[in-house]
Amino acid sequence: MEIEAFITNLPKVELHIHIEGTLTPELRWQLGHKNGIALPFDSFEELEASYRPDPDDERIGADGLARFLKQYFGGLEVLRTASDFYELGMRYFRSAAAMNVRHAEVFFDPQAHTERGVPIAEVMQGLQDAQGQAKQELGMTCDYILCFLRSMSAESAEEIYDLCQPYRHTMFCGVGLDGAEAGRPPLLFRSIFERAARDGLKVTSHCDFAQPNTHEHIKQCASTICGTGLDRIDHGLSAADSRELIEMIKNNDIGMTLCPNAYNRRWSDHEVYPLIRRLFDADIKITINSDDPTYMNDKWIVHNMQMVRDRCPFSDVEMIQLAKNAIDICWASPARKKQLMDELFRYQDRMISGKTPACKVVEISGLVPLPSLT
Ligand code: ADE
Ligand code: ZN
Repeated sequence: MEIEAFITNLPKVELHIHIEGTLTPELRWQLGHKNGIALPFDSFEELEASYRPDPDDERIGADGLARFLKQYFGGLEVLRTASDFYELGMRYFRSAAAMNVRHAEVFFDPQAHTERGVPIAEVMQGLQDAQGQAKQELGMTCDYILCFLRSMSAESAEEIYDLCQPYRHTMFCGVGLDGAEAGRPPLLFRSIFERAARDGLKVTSHCDFAQPNTHEHIKQCASTICGTGLDRIDHGLSAADSRELIEMIKNNDIGMTLCPNAYNRRWSDHEVYPLIRRLFDADIKITINSDDPTYMNDKWIVHNMQMVRDRCPFSDVEMIQLAKNAIDICWASPARKKQLMDELFRYQDRMISGKTPACKVVEISGLVPLPSLT
């Protein structure tokens, strides 16, 4: 996939990436050997092939999430020590910096590690060291979002939150909810979300695309929990089918972190891009992100941006608006947000004066009719 220089050079903010979803086959193989863990693959080539599923196999709608999560959790076994988590973090930050990601808010799943017997200090130390090194070596800022696993109980979420308290002021800026969604509405976690909000943390939740009861799940995140809803919703694309949800998300000023490639693996272009376009046109603050790039055909933020650029499609000005949305809804300090916005304005000025190469004119004849609103 060819990426325009305009997109590569655009100063970017990544708000939806799971650090565990950046584990490459190479690092998994290497850490497996280092830690003496027998992987369920006879060779590196076999392991690598498992990251490239048959595309026809993937077009299985909502069941795809369960299948993806099996792969994702399977990969975690090799992560044992602080140095493993550091290596995982730094590899991501170096790739991100190469794509001109200037700030990233990165999910991590501590329960998935403590459940396997990994001490929480190993996880936090490694990730925290990578966070510091990224700032020093790469000049990018990053923060983490502690995700609760929705397959586990609300009590378990409380326990991991307690365990992570010593790191609250230095390492994570918010909490989230991820994992298998069917039958696990966000409302089950209301108490821990509201506790985190009272503690001054930001709050977000996954509402994966086209999951069972998705409208109800989105509604809980957009209005019920924390009084007027969470700070952000991760995915939530199905809101575009409902006038009521669009209004609610807009009125409560909730940002949305979309990951087009994750949907496009399982749904066709005309099922995905008109919905993204509709949320954007409704002035909802949507952003474009990468989710779990190594498990999703190696598509990173630049690929996801190019996909919406070509398929929504979005003009230069609209692409810049997406980048502004990400700064607007990110959880960095006001001073850092101002730096990010100034950098983006400088880029915009250069582009307008024609100094940025390869600003192609977007073809709009490919627009597909919108599915109807309910
Ligand atoms: N954990 C990692 N990636 C996820 C996703 N896209 N949805 C739900 N849980 C996840
Ligand atoms: Zn996600």
